[in-house]
Amino acid sequence: MDELLKWRAEFPILERTTYMISNSLGAMPRGVYDTMRAYADSWAERGVRAWEEGWWEMAVSVGDKIAPLIGAEPGEISLHQNVTLTQAVISSCFDFQEPRNKVVMVDLEFPSIQYFYHEQRRRGACVEVVPAADAIRFDLEKLLAAIDENTLLVPISLVLFRSSYIVNARAIIERAHRVGAHVILDAFQAAGTIPLNVRSLGVDFAVGGVLKWLCGGPGVAYLYVREDLRAKLRPSLTGWIAHRRPFAFETGAIDAREDSFRYLNGTPHIPALFACQPGLEILNQVGIHAIREKSIRMTARLIEGAKSRGWTVNTPENPAERAGTVSVECPHAYEVCQELLAREILVDYRPKAGVRVSPHFYNREEECEFTLAQMEEILKTDAWEKHAAAVTHA
Ligand SMILES: Cc1ncc(COP(=O)(O)O)c(C=O)c1O
Repeated sequence: MDELLKWRAEFPILERTTYMISNSLGAMPRGVYDTMRAYADSWAERGVRAWEEGWWEMAVSVGDKIAPLIGAEPGEISLHQNVTLTQAVISSCFDFQEPRNKVVMVDLEFPSIQYFYHEQRRRGACVEVVPAADAIRFDLEKLLAAIDENTLLVPISLVLFRSSYIVNARAIIERAHRVGAHVILDAFQAAGTIPLNVRSLGVDFAVGGVLKWLCGGPGVAYLYVREDLRAKLRPSLTGWIAHRRPFAFETGAIDAREDSFRYLNGTPHIPALFACQPGLEILNQVGIHAIREKSIRMTARLIEGAKSRGWTVNTPENPAERAGTVSVECPHAYEVCQELLAREILVDYRPKAGVRVSPHFYNREEECEFTLAQMEEILKTDAWEKHAAAVTHA
């Protein structure tokens, strides 16, 4: 008996679809209807008083529901609109002055983060990109060798979005700290599917969003800053929410708080901060170890089933190196993905990865085999062909 299946009732879309896309957008908990109503009620009935009745603190207080999922303590997280912006806040704490102006990253990093750091070259950043060794991973030794005395920042995903490969964060952090560099760990594809403890890792910064494995919807990204750095660093991307006395409306330079509010700037994204809470509460109740155990079982079934059909798997076979997604490169993967979507089997396609299949704790284990069997049938009956004309992707 799979205890975790009791949570299915909380996610309406699971009744209508085979939902295998939690690496992209986790299913919406039905509780979101209630929290959105609570938001509307507070605005409608309390009006401007809502700010002092909780809204003002939400960009830090709601972070306490994320903290246990990444191994942080209450008060250690500030919430932003997306991960790209968290990178902007962090990098605004530094200047890219020679000689310590190097940013080291891998080309398997999520593209938005690459775009952001390449633009920082205008501020003096020197960006070194370590190439992928294959479709799954990069060469750790090459990355470690690139991190030297001139390195300022190392933005790195704990789980690579294309292949679901789990990066050796400990080795990278150790090397970076030995030469005085800072590591920004992007836990987007990790939190909610593998255990993670940012404090025991000793990482400088951890960031991620809640819309995937945490089922929190779009518009909320977390930023953790290590305790000893928190008051020491000073973001230049700042604003009145970070001020010690925002309602004094003092002019001139900011007198910034020393806690996590220090990393905030303008008016927070209140509706998204309401919407994200039911998912976070459920994830905390389910527990990361139960999720991970089931995830390993389901991804193993997917890998076995894909290989037995002769398809390439762009995800590590070793469960210790693999997070929640299996990237399956079958023939005509893009078109097969389109036909799966037409059949209410929700997955996605990424170039150089293939069809990404991402079961979560609320999936039935049989849905893994069902998805693969449908892919096989789509290929056998040439049902993929009707999507071939519309191919415009790179
Ligand atoms: C590892 C990783 N980082 C960042 C992002 C996206 O960042 P943002 O919140 O800026 O859209 C994604 C995916 O959407 C991702 O998988």
